[in-house]
Parts: sequence; structure tokens; C-alpha cells
Amino acid sequence: MKLTADERAMLDGAQGEAKRVAMEGLVQLGEAFGAEDTVEIGYAHIHAGMALYLHDVELMEELAGMGAKMAVPASSNIANADMANWRQTGAPEKLARLQQRAESAHRQLGSACSFTCTPYWAGHWPTWNTHMTSIESTVTVFCNSVLGARSNRDGFFAVYAGITGRYPRFGYHLEANRRGTHRVRIETALESVSDFSALGFHLGGLVGEGVPVLEGFGHRPSLDELDALGATLATAGGVALFILPGVTPPFADRAQAFAGRVPAEAMVARRTDLERVYDRFSTGSGDFDLVHVGCPHASFEDMRHYARLLDGKRVKDGVELWVTTSRQVRQMAAEAGLVRTIEAAGAKVISDTCPMSCHFARTTSPDPALGVAPPSLRGIVVDSAKQAKYVRDMIRCDTLLTSTERAIETALCGAFRPRFEGQG
Ligand code: F3S
Repeated sequence: MKLTADERAMLDGAQGEAKRVAMEGLVQLGEAFGAEDTVEIGYAHIHAGMALYLHDVELMEELAGMGAKMAVPASSNIANADMANWRQTGAPEKLARLQQRAESAHRQLGSACSFTCTPYWAGHWPTWNTHMTSIESTVTVFCNSVLGARSNRDGFFAVYAGITGRYPRFGYHLEANRRGTHRVRIETALESVSDFSALGFHLGGLVGEGVPVLEGFGHRPSLDELDALGATLATAGGVALFILPGVTPPFADRAQAFAGRVPAEAMVARRTDLERVYDRFSTGSGDFDLVHVGCPHASFEDMRHYARLLDGKRVKDGVELWVTTSRQVRQMAAEAGLVRTIEAAGAKVISDTCPMSCHFARTTSPDPALGVAPPSLRGIVVDSAKQAKYVRDMIRCDTLLTSTERAIETALCGAFRPRFEGQG
């Protein structure tokens, strides 16, 4: 891989041990993927250091101890506990304390300590053609598809890219890979953000790692709808980029999206396809322990919507309603009086984590070094097919997938309110 003099100096250790380690990792990554050279990045969304894995936190501490600093603006991904308010989720204190150690390491590294899967709602908004890196697939797909930035779906290498400000030029950093592979026509009205989530899940399974070009929306989707769509395209499939002509920069129309080679046949997404997703994630006898909204982490607009739905009402006794969002959005929502309204209804506003990322996860805990035992849960009501998929895989309990509005009604009345007649 061709390196600049500056990159060579990093690799040789002339700029310190942290940059040497990071550059070495990036060169290995680039060589594995046939990169010819590197790009300068403008933003990094990096690993939190997950407290459910002790060594994961130690890894972040080790980098901070070497003097590593973020060379570009950096946000941190979701963590295993709400570091300020862990008690309201029932998280063990030792888990929260360990997660706080990761936060201290992030402060030394110079990351913005956002601990969220939606850093864009928290102010990290990379512009068209900005090369970037992200450990979170939801961030990758949103920044590529809505903002026109250039990102691969990365893992820990995002930290190394943040330290060096460089990334090997391959994948979605190359123009040739930023064009449509599948043509999709939407032939159903999408009435709720959860419908976008179900649509993304359905299509992700069909297109795999392709680049779907989507047409036929009855309205220009809102940012929250695009966020929900991308999150599940990236969950059920390996999608890193979807194209909405006229929305995704720089694609003005279908011909541009396919670089002139438009497939004659289009896949068609119908209401029955969405209903299948709702049905797939609605199992069990209808019992649940928790209602959750805010996957991906809620935007300020989402918070306004939840507050409107909960204003003057009361969550049924014995029901837990979690609203998850970033610290920054929580702060904005608090200043706007929204958190007060939501909490007055008996819901909990939680930051830094989500049900599938917290101590509920059975696949990652108990870590023998930590001794965290996950609680036994019967079911979780969700409005996101992404959360549903991971609750199934990681918490291993039933899920009940419905719309945001019906999830909140469920919390208010204590009985599951399905999205469709006959579902659930
Ligand atoms: Fe974020 Fe958790 Fe959903 S990480 S995208 S709230 S599954």
C-alpha cells in the first residue's frame, strides 16, 4: 500500500507508539482489502469499550495510556450501561463503574463521549464526500445514504482511523462501489416509522450487501424514517449504502443512481412483506416485562413525539417503558421540558445504552471476570425490527413488534397493542 511520508513516519514510530500501533493495523486492513493508498478522514465514530467485556475496556485504557489522541472529530458508540443513571435500568453498579472507566479513557482520547448509535442527532453531521469511519452499521448507512459521506462498516479499526486520521482506500471510499445494484419499487403506504423499520428488514434480507435504489415512497421520508430504514437494511443485510434518488447526494435520478445501467426488473415491496416482518418478531403468549422505544437512539423530534403521546397520561402500574436516546439529545429534550413530561408519565429516559446492549444480554454476560447475571425476561415490546432481532439473538426472550404509537399505548394500558389486526 502506498503511504505518504507522514504515514510512513507514523508506521515507523516517529510519532509515538499509539500512532505506530494504529497505522500498523490500518496497513494490515488495507492490504487485506487490496487498498492502493489511504484517504484522509474527517470524522470517526469509534468503539465505546464495552464493560460487559473487561478486556474491551482495558484495550481503550491501554491506548489512552500510550498517549493516543483522536486526530479528527470523534464520537463514541453505544455502551453497556447508562453511566449517570444506571440504577434506573437495574444495572449492577460494578458494570456501571467499569463502563465509567471506559468513559475516562475516551476523555483522554479526546472523543466526544456521546455513547450513542445516532451521533448525528448529537451534532456529528459529516457532509457530502467526507471520508469517515464508523463501528456502528446504523451510522455507516445513515452517513452514506442520507448525508453522502463515505464510510465502510468498520470494527475496531475505526479507533485506529481516528488516531491517525487515515483509512485505507477501499469499499465505499471508492466511487465505483457507490452505485445501485438492485432496483426496488415500494408499493405500499408507509404509515409509521416502524413501517420503515419493517421495510428495511425485509429488503435487507433480499439485497444482502447490495446497494438498493428505492422508489415509490408516497412522501419524502423524514430523517427519522430514513434512520429507521437504514438501521434495518444494515441489520437484516450487510447494506452500507442505499440510494433514494433526489435525496441521497449526489444522485438526482434513477439513471445516475445506477451510473446509467438501470436494471430492467424491479423488486416490489408490498404490505404483506411488512406484515411478515411484524409477525416474525411478535411471538410468545403476549407477556412482556418491558416496552422500549428509541432504536436507533431517539432524535429530538422522536422525543417530542413521545412526549406528545405521553402528556398527562400514566404508564400502567407494573409496566416499564424505556425511552433510549443520546446524552446530548436527552439534554436538549430536558431543556425543552420533554423529559419532564415523559418521566411524569412514569417512563424512563435512558442514555448510553439500549435493551440489547445492556446487562440483559445473555450472550455476553455473565463475564466470569465480572460476575454479571442477566435477568430473566419474558418479552419486550419494541417499535424497531433491529432491536427485535438483537433482543432475540442476545437476550433470547420473546419480542412484540408494533408501531411507536401502539408500543406507547401498550405501556399505558398494560396489554399488547398490535400494529395490524390479527397480529400478535
Ligand atoms: Fe442503537 Fe441499540 Fe438500536 S445500539 S440501533 S438502540 S439495537
